[in-house]
Amino acid sequence: MASEEKPLVVVTCTAPVNIAVIKYWGKRDEDLVLPINSSLSVTLHQDQLKTTTTAAISKDFTEDRIWLNGREEDVGQPRLQACLRESEWDPAGDVCDTGPSPSFPSAPSSVCRVRVHRGCCWLRRPPGEGAACEHGRGRGRGRGGGRDLPSPRRASAGEAGGRGRLSAVPLPPPDSRRVRCQEQVGATCPVAVSPPPSVRRLARKRRSTGDEDPPPLSLSYKVHVASVNNFPTAAGLASSAAGYACLAYALARVYGVDSDLSEVARRGSGSACRSLYGGFVEWQMGERADGKDSVARQVAPESHWPALRVLILVVSAERKLMGSTAGMQTSVETSPLLRFRAEAVVPGRMVEMTHCVRERDFQGFGRLTMKDSNQFHATCLDTFPPISYLSDISRRIIRLVHCFNAHHGQTKVAYTFDAGPNAVVFTLDDTVPEFVAAVRHCFPPESNGDKFLKGLPVRPASLSDELRAALDVDPTPGGVKYIIATQVGPGPQTLDDPHAHLLGPDGLPKPAA
Ligand code: DP6
Repeated sequence: MASEEKPLVVVTCTAPVNIAVIKYWGKRDEDLVLPINSSLSVTLHQDQLKTTTTAAISKDFTEDRIWLNGREEDVGQPRLQACLRESEWDPAGDVCDTGPSPSFPSAPSSVCRVRVHRGCCWLRRPPGEGAACEHGRGRGRGRGGGRDLPSPRRASAGEAGGRGRLSAVPLPPPDSRRVRCQEQVGATCPVAVSPPPSVRRLARKRRSTGDEDPPPLSLSYKVHVASVNNFPTAAGLASSAAGYACLAYALARVYGVDSDLSEVARRGSGSACRSLYGGFVEWQMGERADGKDSVARQVAPESHWPALRVLILVVSAERKLMGSTAGMQTSVETSPLLRFRAEAVVPGRMVEMTHCVRERDFQGFGRLTMKDSNQFHATCLDTFPPISYLSDISRRIIRLVHCFNAHHGQTKVAYTFDAGPNAVVFTLDDTVPEFVAAVRHCFPPESNGDKFLKGLPVRPASLSDELRAALDVDPTPGGVKYIIATQVGPGPQTLDDPHAHLLGPDGLPKPAA
């Protein structure tokens, strides 16, 4: 907790990875990171997969700084800024106050930028049009040399709960584009914007609404952050979800905030808000334009289903070609199947999945998990140009799972794949040894036989001749690099041991961090 007297306040927290069984794919508001559908995930145990983050504040720090896995990163990245930055938003105002913002250094060149009360407004443009925004019309201020919007469309109060936010429309029409608008200093902006979330803002808000003392000085202190993963960042294992959840949680602890952190974590990475809780977690999409009701909630605690096991089959540790953010944006713009999924399929699946979890119904849970993964990847193929995250090995794993289940005459194992080729397999503890033996049979380890299985211990098992015949595969040596065996786990934790801090007394990363 923050304290005014101490020269340096340091906290260290950990946060888990989560795997969605009902997938989030597509935003109705890019800036606020509001999804087009609700989603549901399982929090994985931090003994196997976690992010550890230390946050330190001091009056002597002159700037915010961040080190990820030992390397200093640009703290100006928009998503980091969304969690970190100081809010100077004036809710009473309605005027664009500055020109292009240094806060968006990595925005695509086709996007023209503005800071409107340090936020930004998003407008649609028809497909094929240039990047100039409505506000830049005729003023030549749009970046990227695009053409002006032919028919400017202004937000009506009704569209955005009286605040005129275009992006409040639940689903953008296909082939729409959004641009950040750029406005001249002092001109009136027709689209009101929401303030950026930051832990410092939340802290101020909390203090200013109570009968407490005025905000302490520590809220103006700069912060140093160091963060490490205990698993390969590039392995496609949802590191950003754990990373942003941990950042939000650690900042909240160091600045003394105890309010809901969904918004802060979500603005880092949508799926990160689900990593704020252990067990089984839903992210309710919400309906409000300001996103206040787009929050994560626990469906069941980690102790609820002790027999559930999770096997991560690492197929490739390479970075994906198309990141989730860009991929889902293209899907929202071009895939009719995604719209159908969000409107007609996911609402029913959320109810069904919640029921399966509550009843510990593995048959129902497993079947729905596989179907939802398959539909998510179908929407990727329905995207134009198509996106393909699965590899040949992924498809062989899918086949293996279905053969295994067919042999047993019931759903004993279930796969799900995120935006990458690695498989996450759910099963019950008594099935783990036989399924791991089946994976070894289909994907014999090439050189790392002893390191093939990481995480929870798994007793050796041999395959029956019947199962071996049922699998009916030509083995692919090395197809699966290794397996991480884990289980459902708790949400973020605060570490009391000062030795756990990744930052030293000088506020810089310890040599080993
Ligand atoms: C396929 O949360 O990484 O893993 O909000 O743009 O950061 P951004 O996307 P991100 O998307 C995760 C997509 C997914 C499905 C899921 O986790 O629900």
